[in-house]
Amino acid sequence: MSRIKIHDKIFEPFISAEEIDRAVSKVADQITKKYRGRKPVFIGVLNGCFFFATDLMRKIDFSCEVSFVKVASYVGTQTTGNVRQLLGLDQKVAGRDVIIIEDIVDTGNTIEAVTEIIANMGAASVSVATLLMKPKIYSKNIDIEFVAIEIDPEFVVGYGLDYDGFGRNLNQLYVLSQAQNLKSDEDMLNIVLFGPPGAGKGTQAIKLKEKYDLVHLSTGDILRNEIKNETELGTLAKSFMDKGELVPDEVVIDMIGNCLNENESAKGFIFDGFPRTTEQAEALDNLLEKHSTEIDTMLSLEVDDEELVDRIIKRGKESGREDDKNESVIFNRIITYNKKTAPLKNYYDEQGKYHAIAGVGSVDDVFDRLTSSIKS
Ligand code: AP5
Ligand code: MG
Repeated sequence: MSRIKIHDKIFEPFISAEEIDRAVSKVADQITKKYRGRKPVFIGVLNGCFFFATDLMRKIDFSCEVSFVKVASYVGTQTTGNVRQLLGLDQKVAGRDVIIIEDIVDTGNTIEAVTEIIANMGAASVSVATLLMKPKIYSKNIDIEFVAIEIDPEFVVGYGLDYDGFGRNLNQLYVLSQAQNLKSDEDMLNIVLFGPPGAGKGTQAIKLKEKYDLVHLSTGDILRNEIKNETELGTLAKSFMDKGELVPDEVVIDMIGNCLNENESAKGFIFDGFPRTTEQAEALDNLLEKHSTEIDTMLSLEVDDEELVDRIIKRGKESGREDDKNESVIFNRIITYNKKTAPLKNYYDEQGKYHAIAGVGSVDDVFDRLTSSIKS
């Protein structure tokens, strides 16, 4: 079993299905010893208890009844504080032995309220069976008689327990990973700086890198460096770049994968000129997921074609970039962008991450627009 990701958090395998099964059997034996012949009523507290309740009841073979409730809480008066109410109880409990089934008891607030309500309905006895118990933070006086597994005050999911709605269906327990979540999304800032050739990606990336202490990854710069060093990869890349065509996906995806591995402790990344195709965008999402992070925002610098050509030709006079020198190559870069790269706006828009930024005006004005977008 390996790590899993739910929403923004990484969870490690914690308690296996086999271990849970053994612990549930132990509780079933204890309950059987005590209640055989007494026809108790089991009351499961939803939603979290459904796995535990099901497995426990399968191991109980004496005569009993089973019901489920939900706990609703609403804000009461100043003196009553939060009032709790049981919903869906279709069982008369007066005069009966009741066993409440819980998924987890931590501070004990919920179980205290539920026990009190059932006792006040005239139950002959009320006991509690819980899958998990956190003795270190339990602060109530009610005896939790049947405990399958004791755990430290950690956040767990699976086997009925959720993190913000997800994870309940996992057949074993997972615990929130301390190590992984220390450098999780909240601390990292990952930006796709997007736009056509000459939009100002490189210019703005340098300023963003400085302001947010990020690692700047420009596939164009990396490839030009390979060309300069006359590597095999450089020779291959040159044949595409000089024509204004895209270098094959697998080449740039591998490059980015290596860069991510080399920068494990980065506070975040600016991806400049990457991704440029849907394949690259999907590969980037997968790579980042492996590093327990994701893209936060895609900032798309919008500049009209005339201005783009104007800027590139101006730069070409001193940049030494082969692809800046020839007008037909410049046009081909823009055409390639419109055909293969611009559709990525939809890819990120569907994830709610696409932000169009006007790329004209002074470099500082554009930078201000970018930083305001990042802040919001
Ligand atoms: P790449 O190096 O990424 O080039 P590009 O996308 O064509 O963009 P540029 O670097 O030319 O422009 P920029 O947006 O960075 O603008 P800049 O800040 O320099 O890619 C080159 C080639 O490599 C590709 O064609 C492809 O072959 C290959 N490649 C790269 N990544 C790839 C990938 N992922 N997959 C496949 N192939 C890949 O600004 C431009 C000029 O404008 C500068 O002179 C600047 O001073 C000026 N300027 C900037 N801002 C302003 C402003 N606000 N007002 C006036 N002038 C401004
Ligand atoms: Mg650039």
